[in-house]
Formats: sequence, structure tokens, C-alpha cells
Amino acid sequence: MSSAEITGDRVNPADRATHRSAGEQASARTIFITFGTRPEAIKMAPVVLELRRRAVFNVVTCLTGQHREMLDQVVEAFALPVDYDLKVMREQQTLGHVTSAVLKSIDPLLEAERPNLVIVHGDTTTTFAAALAAFYRMIPVAHVEAGLRTDNVYSPYPEEMNRRLADRVADIFYAPTPAAREALLWEGVARGKILVTGNTVIDALVATAATPAPPWEPRVAAALGRSGPKVLVTVHRRESWGAPMERVALAIKRVSEALPETTFIFPIHLNPVVRKTFREALGQVTQVVFSEPLAYQAFVHLMKAVDVVITDSGGIQEEAPTLGKPVLVMRDTTERPEGIEAGTAKLVGTNDEVIARELLLLLTDKREFAKMAAAINPYGDGHAATRIADHLEHQFGLREKTPEEFSTAPFC
Ligand code: UD1
Ligand code: UDP
Repeated sequence: MSSAEITGDRVNPADRATHRSAGEQASARTIFITFGTRPEAIKMAPVVLELRRRAVFNVVTCLTGQHREMLDQVVEAFALPVDYDLKVMREQQTLGHVTSAVLKSIDPLLEAERPNLVIVHGDTTTTFAAALAAFYRMIPVAHVEAGLRTDNVYSPYPEEMNRRLADRVADIFYAPTPAAREALLWEGVARGKILVTGNTVIDALVATAATPAPPWEPRVAAALGRSGPKVLVTVHRRESWGAPMERVALAIKRVSEALPETTFIFPIHLNPVVRKTFREALGQVTQVVFSEPLAYQAFVHLMKAVDVVITDSGGIQEEAPTLGKPVLVMRDTTERPEGIEAGTAKLVGTNDEVIARELLLLLTDKREFAKMAAAINPYGDGHAATRIADHLEHQFGLREKTPEEFSTAPFC
């Protein structure tokens, strides 16, 4: 790795100066926002854009580049400004590589920028390493999507530990739901440090779903043009590599044999382990249509167009209920119980018989389908980013009126 890669390329040096005057620039509080993977970028986009609209903040964005193509798709979709890009991704990278590369690369940027606050999102290795880097520099950390928990540190792996560790480091906790706040309180986080905001993914989703559907790529268009039910599939979690993913593939095969008119649309993650498993197992199944990862706008409209979603994704578990799409969650645990409690999502594990049985039930039993297809909104109202920005203005002493819920003690 060259030293330029370690310290991070300054991508967009002119951009920050253009949207505010020199006076504003000098007095603005510097907020350093970091993200590295597709879902973090989608969920941080509303926050970055909202904070940049407010002249009191000097927003510095730092991509870790834990993902590349999948991250760039989101940066382009939301026209996100990028100040630094650490470019840490390697083919089939290890967790140790990502953690150490992010930690090492961010530190000189924090030293140079001297931000008043670092904001991290969610539970990736980027999240944990960036939070730790800020702690080492004694810079306060705000954690967006704080407080999600399962009771098993290996499920999801390594995300459950990443978010617990990030929350040990954080000073401000933006909990997406009341349940996430309860988990933080239970762990001893002071009530005044937590604000329930809704999940910022709903901000991104609501805005994107309101735009017209983009032209489909030819494979997806052909798949949607077939008759019969459509099932959207995504799978990528590390704890499912190997046998669990093979069982997911077997379940899809079983359903395609039992209900041959079903079409599975599978935008496949760029992780080589995932691609190899599913291409080998399902490459010959004519009902399965693979595509490359879709741009966010196309993916949102695809979710709207299909009948059922089967996934191990965190973000899709949050988006599908808002769109009224039944979701089978192919994991043993979930940190997002709200969709399950509301009846839109069902936790089905990675047993092929169970997945096939539950999917066949949904595809053949109209009452069962109708029960799960109600649109609900347990994850947010589309205004999470505004709440976060208002709250930060208050934290920095820049907002006169103090809404009751902003009881967090000012930290700077
Ligand atoms: C990561 C996150 C996971 C998140 C997921 C979202 C960790 C440990 N995992 O998992 O929490 O749910 O992102 O998708 O933080 N690759 C590319 N191009 C890309 C992206 C990935 O080629 O744009 C390939 C590379 O070979 C890379 C591999 O995928 O080494 C794995 O990427 P990594 O970020 O380590 O793990 P994910 O499984 O994507
Ligand atoms: N997504 C996308 N294109 C795709 C698949 C997913 O834009 O081809 C979006 C999806 O709408 C959701 C996010 O990516 O917002 C979920 O990412 P992923 O499943 O990779 O990660 P997780 O949410 O599990 O961390």
C-alpha cells in the first residue's frame, strides 16, 4: 500500500469552500462523517445532505472505501460530496485488514481536520474502527443507528460486536426506535445521551420511492415481464458463508421445482464468496435471474415491483415493511424485531426446509400473504436526518429553543 493510500486521497478540496462564505467557514463547527459500505452510505446520505444545508456546520465526508463499486453507486445516486477516500478495500479482505487500514488511515485526517465531532453509522468494521480512531484523538462520537442488539455476539458476525463496541465509545446515541433506546438504557447509557430519531434509511427510501422508476436493466426487465410471482433475493452475511448459504440455495431450488412459474430476481453482492456459492448452486436454475448490484433507485423500485422479499440484509428488513412487502429473514437472529412484531417480517433461519415451506405458504396462500403485506412504518417517518441536525445544532449551542426531547447534556 502506498503512503497516499494510507493517508487518504483528498478528493474534493474545492467543494467545501463553495457552499458557504469565508466568515461562515471560519465559525462553523466541523463535523467529520465517515462511512465505508453501501448500507452506511445510503443511511448517511440524508444526514450528510441535511447537515450541509446548514451553514453552521462544516461537513467533512470521509469514505473509508471498505466497499468500492457498491459504495460508488450510492455516492453517485445521492450526489454525495466526498472529501477523503481511504480506498481500503482488498479482494476478499479480512476483518483485520479493514480494521487496521481504517484506523491507521483516518488518524492523520482527524489530526489535520480537528473536527468537533465524528459521526459514524451502524455496525460495520468501518463503524467500529472510525469510532475507535476518534476516541484515540479524544474527539466526541455520535453513533447513528445506535442500540440495535441481538443476544448473540456471533450473530450477525461481526456486526453485533462492532455496534456494541461503537456504543462503548460513543457520546451521542441516535437510536432509530424506542426498542433501541431501551437496549442502550439497559446497558447503562444515560437517558440524556439518547435521542430516538427513526431510521435514516426511511428518509432515503421515502425520497427515492417518490421518484419515477428508472429504466430497468435488460435482465431485470425480462424477469419482471415473466408471468407468475416474483421473489427478490439478497444474501451476503459472513455468518452464512458455506453451509447456510448452500441451504438457502437449496430452498430456492425446491420452491422453483414446486412452483415453476415463480421467478427469483437476485442482485448478487460483489463478495466473491457469495457469488461463487450461488452461481454454482443456482446457475442452471432457469427461474433464477442474477443481476449485478443495482443502483439504489432501481433497487427501491424493484422492491416495489416484486411480491415477496427473502433476505439476510439489515437495511432491506427495514425498507420492505414500509413498502408493504412481506419479508422472510434468512437469519437465526435479528436486531430488528419491530417488523416481526408488526407481522410484515418472519424470521426463518437458514434451514432449507423451513425457508421453502414458508415461501411456498406465502406464494400459495392468499390469506397468509395478505396478513404480511400490510404497509407499516415501525422504523421511521422519513424525518430522522432533520431531527439529528436539529439536535446537533442544540448540542453546539446554536439553537435557541430547546425541544423537550433534546435533554442530552451539551458535550462541546
Ligand atoms: C460488509 C459489512 C456488513 C454489511 C455489508 C453490506 C463488515 C464486516 N461487513 O460486508 O456489515 O452488511 O458490507 O453489504 O463490515 N466487494 C467488492 N466490491 C464492493 C464491495 C465488496 O468487490 O463494492 C468484495 C471484495 O472482495 C471484499 C468483499 O466483497 O473484500 C467483502 O467486503 P466486506 O466489506 O469485507 O464485507 P461484506 O460482506 O461486504
Ligand atoms: N441495495 C441496493 N442495491 C442492491 C441491493 C441492496 O441499493 O442491489 C440497498 C438496499 O435497498 C438497502 C441496502 O442496500 O438499503 C442494504 O445493503 P446490504 O444488504 O448490502 O447491507 P445490510 O443492510 O445488510 O448491512
